[in-house]
Order: sequence, then structure tokens, then C-alpha cells
Amino acid sequence: MTNSTVKKLFEEMTIEEKIGQLLQLSADFFQGNSAVITGPMSEHHLNLKTLYQAGSVLGVSGAKRVRAIQSDYLAHSRLKIPMLFMADVVHGYQTIFPIPLALTASFDPLVMKNASEVAASEAAAGGVHVTFAPMVDLVRDPRWGRVMESSGEDPFLSSVMAQAAVRGFQGEKPLANEHIAACVKHFAAYGAPEAGREYNTVDLSEWRFREQYLPAYAKAIEAQVLLVMTSFNTLFGVPATANQYLMRDILRKELHFNGVLISDWDAIGELITHGVAGDLKQAASLALKAGVDIDMMSFAYAHYLKKATDVDSNTKKLIDESVMRILELKDVLGLFDDPYRGISEEREAIAVKTHKNLASAQHAAEQAMVLLKNKNHILPLKQQQRLAVVGPAANTGEILGSWSWQGDSSTTESYISALRRHFLNVSYAQGCGFHQINLQEVQTAMKIARNSDVIVAFMGLPQSDSGEATSMTNLCLPKEQLTLLARLSELNKPMVIVVNTGRPLVLTDVDAVSDAMLISWFPGSRGAEALANILDGTVEPSGKLPMTFPRKLGQIPIYYNAYSTGRPIQGDSSDNENKYLSKYIDESNEPLYPFGFGLTYADLIVTDLRLNQKTITPNKSIHVMAVVKNRSDRDGLAVVQCYIHQKVGQTVRPIKQLIDFIKVIIPANSTKTVEFNLTLDKLVSVHSDLARHIDSGEYIVMVGLDSEKVLKDTIFAKQNIGELYNDQIKK
Ligand code: BGC
Repeated sequence: MTNSTVKKLFEEMTIEEKIGQLLQLSADFFQGNSAVITGPMSEHHLNLKTLYQAGSVLGVSGAKRVRAIQSDYLAHSRLKIPMLFMADVVHGYQTIFPIPLALTASFDPLVMKNASEVAASEAAAGGVHVTFAPMVDLVRDPRWGRVMESSGEDPFLSSVMAQAAVRGFQGEKPLANEHIAACVKHFAAYGAPEAGREYNTVDLSEWRFREQYLPAYAKAIEAQVLLVMTSFNTLFGVPATANQYLMRDILRKELHFNGVLISDWDAIGELITHGVAGDLKQAASLALKAGVDIDMMSFAYAHYLKKATDVDSNTKKLIDESVMRILELKDVLGLFDDPYRGISEEREAIAVKTHKNLASAQHAAEQAMVLLKNKNHILPLKQQQRLAVVGPAANTGEILGSWSWQGDSSTTESYISALRRHFLNVSYAQGCGFHQINLQEVQTAMKIARNSDVIVAFMGLPQSDSGEATSMTNLCLPKEQLTLLARLSELNKPMVIVVNTGRPLVLTDVDAVSDAMLISWFPGSRGAEALANILDGTVEPSGKLPMTFPRKLGQIPIYYNAYSTGRPIQGDSSDNENKYLSKYIDESNEPLYPFGFGLTYADLIVTDLRLNQKTITPNKSIHVMAVVKNRSDRDGLAVVQCYIHQKVGQTVRPIKQLIDFIKVIIPANSTKTVEFNLTLDKLVSVHSDLARHIDSGEYIVMVGLDSEKVLKDTIFAKQNIGELYNDQIKK
């Protein structure tokens, strides 16, 4: 459709039809082909006419169902404006990829892009038009269960992954039928709830918000994401869904977002419980003024906007703006040309769970797993070694992770089944459940362990313990699992511990009894095969931690890119010589495993950090070069990371901040030089005037294979660099 045809359609709409576009219904309003009002849905006091004017629905999918519902809807719709079908397609549709935190651990944006592309192609064939992904909320507190859906603690890494996901889901505009619109969420700062408790207050200074939390949303918008979702939390004292400063000034004016803004589930209704609206009518008005276009499941707009237009002409203008944005989205998706976007049961059957898609999911899982420890090179295991496989996560298909509603864990291969294919001598006894233990099971596990060469223990959390509404106060493995590990360790056999988790855990006790420790996350449909490939050495482990793993719960929030304090500890934090330093009296400051950390089987080191010049100018970026040496007979996969630290800033600066990374193969017994292009925009910081600046002065450049062990050099940005840079941007 041309712009003018969309405009013409818009002009023909009645006010009821316009308000209908702003209403989103859940799947419960549809039975068979038709819209219905049954059971709890009748509490919302909507009538059938209103349902047949709703602009969108969430959670309905499947080519046959979507076709039938769309066709019935169009038959009832005066202007034949197709409905949008939205759903949470987060890390796969039927082919499930590793959870987003794990995809990020790959440190490979192509892995994220490909996962999103595959998810889009399958979901599109199943009739989905919009996915509520990616979630790009920066996170620092693993008590919050939704860290599994994030890209971790670093603004740069999150930004790179946000862009990759948006590009993967959406492809190019106008969207081809194999792509779907992405919705970046949750604007804003949903990942910083106090005490890690779900839906809790967020209270950040605007300075910190702009420095660390805003960049990933901004990058997704730069990548032309078509929708944004509001967050449940408050920010700067006002719930995001009613926050005009956040939505109008920052999102629309500053970030130039001109797509559709949708509320989170009933977030408009929650303005009442937040205590900023006296009733649903006021809530509707606040959200509309903040620029929220679609009301997901509070029905405030459907009930109250019409009357408001009688008394207030501004309301009508705001409704019109929202409707135009929604119609434009429908147009970009091609729905006015084909309301079904080419779906059919036949196309769906050949599009989902293809050999190629499953192979991509396996590759992603292989790239995502993180090897934290490998004493005496116990891994990779040898084919003929006698393995005693134990633990509650060994024999289950529930390794898909949260947000895998179209995935099928009952047909997902378990770890033990894949191990039996890869190794000749495997015995299995569960030993304990995730949260249960009994003596007899422990004894059976001890028996097989006694007759083995290596114990391989699959521990961790069930998949239901991460995702939305799973905040936790204890991040150690459940005591039943620790008991089993303690008993097994009495045997003095080498022990490999695989940890299934959607979040960083406090693994100090597990570390103490392990010889090798591998984080498998929730690795998706082909996770078991990926794991077996890593354990037998077919595949080189190469994932890196996108979040710090704490040593003790009380260290939380702990993250590598903290700001300098006035009294930093020097060296070893257990040194008690000076009491008045920024440290604990009962624990060191160091994490158990730092951000960016992950071992490989190949023996890799970074040497010879070199810079082509020391001074950075707007026209001359600095080439940062380092040599990566592989001192082993295996090909290695290195994730080389480049950090900076600004020595003197107008505001305090992070002690380290990731500015670039690259994942490269280093062939056996050889070296490779990697190069980063350090451009001026990498030096941007937010000053206390809340604007972005580039400061002159000294910066330390660091390169390493994790955030802790790095080589360093110094560079200089000359005086008035900021003005020079601004002049260059203006040109
Ligand atoms: C979540 C959103 C999700 C929505 C729709 C909410 O509870 O916070 O992330 O997209 O439900 O399922």
C-alpha cells in the first residue's frame, strides 16, 4: 500500500474503529475461528463488536489457526484492516536455541543474528507477525530470574547483541514473509529491580541510566526496531508506562523512535496499584499522554478513551497518532496486500524444525557453553573411559529454558542419551532430584561412581526456576545436590560437573569438589548433542561469561565494570593491613569467575600488545594489535577482548569497560595477530550535564582473553578533542 492509501483508510475510520486498533486481546478471546467472551474474559466487559475491532492479539499461532481467525475477523470488519498476531518468540519457535544469556555467551553476534533469523522464519510460517523480543535490559543481579532472557551486564556486549537480534528477526524493510517485526523490551531499566525482586522499584540516577542502561535500547532503535514495549517498573519516580519524560522526551525525541509503543501485560492497569492513577480512566489518560500506542490486556483504552475525546481534543490527536503508527506497522509487514503473509499448513510443515535449523541451534549451543575449570586437562574425555553419569539434569528433555512454549521437551534429547552415543562405557544413576534426595539413590550413584574412571554430574536448576517471576534469594545449588557431590567427592575420582542454569550461581562449593566445571545453561533443542561434542573434544569450548559469577551471595550486585572508588583495594583484598578500604571483612572482593572468562582446550595466550600510534584524533583512529598464540596441538577458538579505562574523567569512570571483541580461530601451534580499530566514539562518556562527551587525556587500553588478565598500554586524546569530534560529526 502507498502512504496515501493508508492515510485514506485512516480517514474513513470511526473513533470506535480507531480505539479498536489500540486494543490487544489475548488468545483466551478466541475459540475455534471466532472471537468469544467466555469465563474470566467476561470480567472485562467487552462486547463482540469491540473484539472484532481489536487491532492485535497475542499468543495465537499456527498457520491453520491464524488463517482461520484472521479470515473470520476480516469477514466481521467493516474496513477489512487485518489483525496483528504477536507472540513471545524469544530464543526459537519450534527449534529452540540456547536461552538469550547463553547466546550472548557465544560472544558471536552472528550466532545471535542467526538464532533470531531462524526463529523469525519458523514463527512467520506459523502466522506470527511480531515477536516480543529482544529483551535488552542490562542486568547485574542474578537474583532476578529474567537475567536468562538478557544479554548480561555489559552495555557494549548488550548493544551488539541487541542489534544482531533485531537484524535477524526483521531482515530488511519492507519485511519479507520470512521475517517478523521485533519489539525491544522493556523500556526502561526493568533489569535493575531493587534486591533482584521481580517487578520491584527501579531507582537509578539518570546519569547511570544514560551511561549503562540506555545504550542497548538506543542501538536496537538505531537498527530500526519496529516496536518498543514499556516496562513494569518505575523509573525516576514514575512507572515507565506513564512516564512522559521517558517515553516522549527520551524515546521519541532523543532516540527518534517512531514505531509502535506497546504496554507490557496490564501495565496500564498497574498504574493504579503503583499509586499514580486513581482509577482505570486516569490510567488510560496517563498512558496515552506518555505515548503508549497499544494497551496489552488492561482494557483501559477500550473502556475510557472514547468518552475522553468528547471533552478533550488533544486525546483525539494522540489517538490518531497511535493509530497511524499501528497502520504503518501493518503496512510494513505487508498485511494490506496479504493479510495472511503467505501462510499455509504446507509451508509451516516444511519451515519448522528443519535439519538446517536444528543444526544452527546445535552450533549455537556449542558456541555458548562456558568451561570454567579443567584441572589436569581432564576434559576432553576419552571414548573408552568408564563414565558414571549422575545428577538431576542428566536424564531430562527439560533443557529448553523458559520462553520455549512452542518447543517440545518431551522429544528433546537428554544429556545421558547423547553421551551414550559418544562414549563406549556409560553407566547412569540419578543420585538425587533437583530438590530431593534419598539414601538408596545416593548409594546406587556411589556404586556406579566407584566402578568408573570419571564421574560426570549434571547439576543445576530446573528450567522452571528461571524466567519471569522466578526471583531467588539463594543462588547456591540446592543442598540435596551439594550433599550428593560431597559424598561422591569422598571417592577421590575425577569429577566433571555440568551446570544447567539460566543465571549466575554461587558455585564456590561446587568448584571446590570439581575437577572440571562446564556451564551448559539451558542449551535448547540440540543442547545434548552439543554438550557431548564438547565433552568428547569434537568441539572446542569457546563461550565466555556475559555476567560475573559471584563467590558469595553477599557480593551481589557484582560486575566487572564498576566505577573507581576513592579507596580501592590494591592487589589482594584479603590483605588486612589497611582496614579503611572498599572491601568486605569476611570475603574478598573478587568474583569466583569474572566477566568474559571461559577456558578452551587449546592453550591460548595473548602477547605483544601494540598500537600503531599513541594519540587519537577525529581523523586518525588507533589500531590496537595483539598476537594470540596457540601453544597446543589443537585448533583453538579465541575470544579476544578489548577494554579501556579513562584515567581522569569529568565523572567517575569504570575501572574497565569493554569496547570491542572478536572471536577467531587460532590453528594449532600457530599465532595470529588480531586488530581492533579504536575510534573516538569508543571514548564517549556521560558527564554530569547528562550529555555525551569525549574527554581529552589519558586512557588505558587493555587486551586479553577475559576481563581480568589483560595486557595494557596508554593512549592520549588531545585537548579540545570533544569539539573536534563534534565538528566532524556535524560535517
Ligand atoms: C512479560 C513480557 C511479555 C508479555 C507477553 C509479560 O508478562 O513481561 O516480556 O512479552 O508478558 O507475554
